[in-house]
Amino acid sequence: MSKETLVVFWSFTGSTKEVALETARHLNADVEELVDKTNWTGFAGSLNRAAKATVKGCSKRLEPTKFDPGNYKKIIILSPFWGPTVTPTVRTYLKDNKAKIDSIWLIVTYGYSSLDKCEREIKDMGYVLNGILGIKTGISRKDGQMPNIGDYKPELHDFLKRI
Ligand SMILES: Cc1cc2nc3c(=O)[nH]c(=O)nc-3n(C[C@H](O)[C@H](O)[C@H](O)COP(=O)(O)O)c2cc1C
Repeated sequence: MSKETLVVFWSFTGSTKEVALETARHLNADVEELVDKTNWTGFAGSLNRAAKATVKGCSKRLEPTKFDPGNYKKIIILSPFWGPTVTPTVRTYLKDNKAKIDSIWLIVTYGYSSLDKCEREIKDMGYVLNGILGIKTGISRKDGQMPNIGDYKPELHDFLKRI
């Protein structure tokens, strides 16, 4: 029997994680936290981030996942925005699991950009995008530090009502 909802996320500094866990709590969903062994921190990490993010690259170091998305009716994906669109980790998951997922809801936490490019990339991968929500968090003041996320819950809960 198929289960109801799977929340899949990756977070670098923690804000997407907070939103993902609140999403899962609200919908009583299973949660898949993607584990990526790529080094994204420090000087080497900043070069990796710039290289992978800007060319819409994939991660070669994503750990095997726990849940089969093919067993769920609804899939909600959460990613930080790394210009020009979603993060390499989330992109890799979406590419690897395309055969098992037809449509998704996407929640992106971001600092300042427009989400048009995220929307376009997801559709170009062949997904039906049921809905997209951007939660503005700002940017880290220091490398690896979580931005000040603010009170995102009202807009999140409003979005989740339509899922
Ligand atoms: C490498 C990197 C690149 C980023 N690029 C952008 C960007 O192009 N546009 C934007 O709006 N925010 C950008 N941000 C800000 C993050 O999207 C935002 O702070 C996000 O909420 C962080 O999520 P997290 O705490 O789950 O990692 C970037 C952050 C990092 C670390």
